[in-house]
Amino acid sequence: MAHENGIYMAYNDIWLLDGVRTPFIEYNTALGLVSPTDLGIKVARTVLERAGVPPADVGSVIAGCVEKASFDGYFLARHIGLYSGVPVDRPALMVQRVCGTGFESITQGADAIALGKISLGLCVGAESMSRSPIAAYTHRGGFRLGQVEFKDTLWEALHDTAPDVSMGVTAETLAVTYKITREDVDRFAESSFARALAAQKNGFLAGEIVPLVTEKFELTGYKPRGIQLPKGVDRLADDTHIRPSSFEGLSKIRPAFGGVQTGGNSSGIVDGAAAVLVGSGAYVRSKSIKPLARVAAVAAVGVPPEIMSIGPAPAIRRVLDGAGMTLDQIGRFEINEAFAAQLLGVERELKLDRAKLNVNGGAIAIGHPLAVTGVRLVLTVARQLRQAKLRYGIASACIGGGQGIAVLLENPEAAG
Ligand SMILES: CC(C)(COP(=O)(O)OP(=O)(O)OC[C@H]1O[C@@H](n2cnc3c(N)ncnc32)[C@H](O)[C@@H]1OP(=O)(O)O)[C@@H](O)C(=O)NCCC(=O)NCCS
Repeated sequence: MAHENGIYMAYNDIWLLDGVRTPFIEYNTALGLVSPTDLGIKVARTVLERAGVPPADVGSVIAGCVEKASFDGYFLARHIGLYSGVPVDRPALMVQRVCGTGFESITQGADAIALGKISLGLCVGAESMSRSPIAAYTHRGGFRLGQVEFKDTLWEALHDTAPDVSMGVTAETLAVTYKITREDVDRFAESSFARALAAQKNGFLAGEIVPLVTEKFELTGYKPRGIQLPKGVDRLADDTHIRPSSFEGLSKIRPAFGGVQTGGNSSGIVDGAAAVLVGSGAYVRSKSIKPLARVAAVAAVGVPPEIMSIGPAPAIRRVLDGAGMTLDQIGRFEINEAFAAQLLGVERELKLDRAKLNVNGGAIAIGHPLAVTGVRLVLTVARQLRQAKLRYGIASACIGGGQGIAVLLENPEAAG
């Protein structure tokens, strides 16, 4: 078996039943003190309820959270399962593929079904970028005078120490390679914000969001926990990074990495969670569930860390090669907008049609809570295929450290 071009897996009869996410909230604002575990519990409870699936049917919980955002973070997947009613005898797995973590939770669920381990997986991404700790790794034994090493992990973790570049610089490298100008990135960001505003207005985004309120999660015999919104905030129903953003305004923002990227044309830093249910064909049919989409295939590849931004291009090529398909058969692409120059580099490399790409805006407008993004992108592609009566869609992301991942979905109602 050849592995030089990453890994590929096709699934025959594995389904995305339903999904939901929280609104994505600007970091350090209304969800700033809320644990990602509680955001994960909220979406897990909601997706089970919306799909009409008893928690007892879940064979395994598969969850990811990239930032270490709470002292009980080791238990995140387990707590999400327990507090959403999944029986105590079902295991829970934490997954981490950096910005591909949400995709990986779905992939691991599909793999477990393909291997016959489970019939139904509860796949969750949860992230509090706000609560990324200010940490030190070398102080357990104390520290020498003046040698205090506390650092902001949110900032530091965006720097890959192997090539010695930040994630933003990998996008700047694509800007140079693909001759992407400051005007190109700001025009793209303007359109991302405009598309997201339109999707907010026409209700598309609301269709995948569960509003958040202050709420307690009880579990008999265990400590209650929950979501506490700040005083004066009764309900959060909409993504808050989305705002009217003109090209003129965006083009005045100072460069963040010495090139074309700025705080206006890079992914928003937000808190949130998303969950989907992935089930076997036998399970879906036994319950007469009308699934959202078929999970057709997934590919994950490696790329040089210093150009991690290009990851979606080889990942999308790999998933299409594996499936014996071509780009023109794909009706919708959702590629994470980590940075505008990163997305434009991928778009130029693959010669993608903008009319099929991130049609409701992307992470520049909506935000990129690392482990949640893949779940959101898979869910949104599935919903778009339904809405537009298209057959195939691909969700993909670049991954810090130098990887790309892509998931191919099929709308059963448009299948031939
Ligand atoms: C690029 C980045 C470093 C910028 O951080 P920042 O400088 O703190 O950005 P800010 O949000 O403060 O934005 C900078 C300025 O632009 C303004 N701005 C941001 N978005 C805007 C918009 N849509 N319209 C108008 N102005 C906007 C801000 O108000 C701010 O103005 P100010 O300087 O007057 O306060 C940060 O957003 C980032 O790292 N994003 C990517 C995260 C990431 O790497 N994720 C993983 C990907 S692999």
